[in-house]
Amino acid sequence: MRMIIQKDYDAMSQWTANYIVSKINKFNPSQEKPFILGLPTGSSPVGTYEKLIEHYKAGKISFKNVITFNMDEYIGISESHPESYHYFMYSKFFNHIDIPKENINILNGNAEDPEAECAQYEEKIKKNGGIHLFLGGIGPDGHIAFNEPGSSLTSRTRVKTLTYDTISANARFFGNDVKKVPHTALTVGVGTVMDAKEVLILVSGYAKANALQKGIEEGVNHMYTISMLQLHPKGMVVCDEDATMELKVSTERYFKDVERFNLEPITV
Ligand code: GLP
Repeated sequence: MRMIIQKDYDAMSQWTANYIVSKINKFNPSQEKPFILGLPTGSSPVGTYEKLIEHYKAGKISFKNVITFNMDEYIGISESHPESYHYFMYSKFFNHIDIPKENINILNGNAEDPEAECAQYEEKIKKNGGIHLFLGGIGPDGHIAFNEPGSSLTSRTRVKTLTYDTISANARFFGNDVKKVPHTALTVGVGTVMDAKEVLILVSGYAKANALQKGIEEGVNHMYTISMLQLHPKGMVVCDEDATMELKVSTERYFKDVERFNLEPITV
């Protein structure tokens, strides 16, 4: 696993956007051979989306031949609800780049048959040859997508009930009213994320420091689903200094040491 420690949120976002741009450009996607990108919502990736939009506007990247799959969506709120993940993705990212609408995949939280919706999503990822790079964030309890503590580490896309921890963490987006936060969601599974050829997890701020410590320094376990990244052949955490506050000094030094030849920012 690589851990890239940047000084703050802005530097973390810049590093990640540059990395994604250089990955896509190196892949040189075409209509016959698109780049498949997995995407998260939440405050962690917002800065990365902003920087990606800047790169697009500067002519450094095109998303015409990129196909995206989002991680998750709430059940029971309309796509036009300002807190739906559909709304989030269009307003924060897709409306500002040249990705064709038909290349965007987000789980339908209002599907009549949610289980069939999840099965079709898995099938579509497979049909596209799998995800090249899955970008993700974590909740304060170390969950990835909506794979709450106790989720199977081999889980696939399915319906999940949200924990009180997640509902209260996300209440800030619903006028701080926990009653307004949906209690269930559709989410890719831990196994779905781990099947990606590469996984990049953003971790920012002290509120995530405990989850990062448990996920990196302790064993793989279902109470911190992010810990599964330890078993991925190409897993990477990109974080800021605040998120490392609960790590041992030696852990932080170790990761900084092994990255010392790679530390120059990726230029695009
Ligand atoms: C939600 C999402 C996760 C996200 C997490 C953290 O639970 N389902 O994909 O990683 O929130 O969000 P934030 O980045 O806002 O802290």
